[in-house]
Amino acid sequence: MAAPPARQAPPTLVDANRVWVDSWLRHQVGLHLEGPALARLGAHGEVCVEVGTGRRGLGARVAVDRFGARRVTAVDLHPASVDATRRRTRDLAARPGVRVDVLVADAEALPLPDASADLLVSFHALHHADDWRAVLAEAARVVRPGGQLALTEMTSRIVDAPWLRAVSHHPDGRFSSTELLDAVTAAGFEVAPERTRRWSGDRVVQAVAVRTTA
Ligand SMILES: C[S@@+](CC[C@H](N)C(=O)[O-])C[C@H]1O[C@@H](n2cnc3c(N)ncnc32)[C@H](O)[C@@H]1O
Repeated sequence: MAAPPARQAPPTLVDANRVWVDSWLRHQVGLHLEGPALARLGAHGEVCVEVGTGRRGLGARVAVDRFGARRVTAVDLHPASVDATRRRTRDLAARPGVRVDVLVADAEALPLPDASADLLVSFHALHHADDWRAVLAEAARVVRPGGQLALTEMTSRIVDAPWLRAVSHHPDGRFSSTELLDAVTAAGFEVAPERTRRWSGDRVVQAVAVRTTA
């Protein structure tokens, strides 16, 4: 499979992706707060896809340790992130009965068959994707009827804050929690209020949505 062309971000004061997103501390937040919160909302599935895995394979690890995944395909646009996650998930992939594949791929056009996954996991990938609705459409295509989309996202209340815009590149046209959950529904998932959670004054939203069968 040919690697998609790298997309260039405009310069910022510092590169927040390198400073925060790749950090040990951010990984711990995902492992010990965001991941368990999604598990409490009912995230589970054996065959899992993670989009926007970053450099530490957060979603792959959470999927195996918390959601019961046994086969994970983790993707990211950037080859350096894929290489790093491949190294950092070797221990996971070595566990008996577990398979982890890490691929360069675009979440807006996944190289995966229709209805092939029980669960698609996204930790903070949608607010980075050029066309986040296209990622949801791909999730709906790839997740089988009755399967799940488990997501954790920052809303425009953080993404559009001047301090964050100064240090981190994000595309325009991001979403409130309501806009995101409405788009998840429009893509073909059922979003039950009891399986959603809003944190930090609606700056972070988590949801476990179920692919409708129709
Ligand atoms: C904010 S980082 C999140 C990393 C990790 N999931 C975490 O929560 O720590 C967003 C990641 O999504 C990736 N990404 C952005 N757009 C993407 C796309 N269209 N397809 C695949 N990955 C994408 C970026 O390269 C980056 O690694």
